[in-house]
Amino acid sequence: MALLEVEKLTKRFGGLVANRDISLAVEAGEIVAIIGPNGAGKSTLFNGLAGHHAPSSGHVRFDGNELIGRTPEAIAAMGLVRTYQIPRSFAAMTVLENVMVGALLRHPALDAARDVASRVLGEVGLGERGQTPAGELNVAGQKRIELARALATAPKMLLLDEVAGGLNPSEARALAEILRKVHAGGVTLLIVEHVLEVVMRLAQRVLVLDFGQLIAAGTPEEVVRNPAVIEAYLGKKYRA
Ligand SMILES: Nc1ncnc2c1ncn2[C@@H]1O[C@H](COP(=O)(O)OP(=O)(O)OP(=O)(O)O)[C@@H](O)[C@H]1O
Ligand SMILES: [Mg+2]
Repeated sequence: MALLEVEKLTKRFGGLVANRDISLAVEAGEIVAIIGPNGAGKSTLFNGLAGHHAPSSGHVRFDGNELIGRTPEAIAAMGLVRTYQIPRSFAAMTVLENVMVGALLRHPALDAARDVASRVLGEVGLGERGQTPAGELNVAGQKRIELARALATAPKMLLLDEVAGGLNPSEARALAEILRKVHAGGVTLLIVEHVLEVVMRLAQRVLVLDFGQLIAAGTPEEVVRNPAVIEAYLGKKYRA
């Protein structure tokens, strides 16, 4: 049984079908990337998986349990947690306090939550920034807070929505290294990413979403050579 199983998931916003009959499975231990043009439905899919909205139809099973109808908190407690495309830090709170918000899910005692948050900050390279107000960090720092808050919930699987978006190439490479360590620590990763370098470096398998539907799947090398993907996602400028 796969860790995550999505069966014919559909999400309509009025007349717009943002996700249409999406079926996919992610095995424990995989790193799978979802790519696709703006508006393809990637964030909508993550919202549906993590319980932020009710899909119009279909099923999502995690660790064998149906997720549809559960709250984001209940789903996080089961071990499935998402990050946000637009980082959602509490700017006036310290970096450490922002990450404690995640740790409190499993560690209601503040001291224990603080210890977990400190450890996770070290893992994402923010060990020295714990006492800084979160609002003072740049985009790369905000993205790491977002990742750390999710990691502090001790997830089995992370849904990372454009966690490398807005980073310069060296920041993106550093983030990919952090994600590789997170994965080596036993966390399954499903990543939505426009930064192809991160996808190529990390993903074992790539799924391509276009107009709400999965149109291709394969290894990163297969997918970037697929003519339908080149047309839909990369655009004409990438064609030979
Ligand atoms: N809450 C909503 N209400 C109405 N329409 C929505 C809502 N959320 C998303 N949509 C629409 O659904 C479609 C898919 O949006 P979504 O944000 O999932 O795309 P995406 O693949 O994440 O794009 P991007 O790469 O720009 O982040 C878009 O047409 C968007 O305008
Ligand atoms: Mg999105």
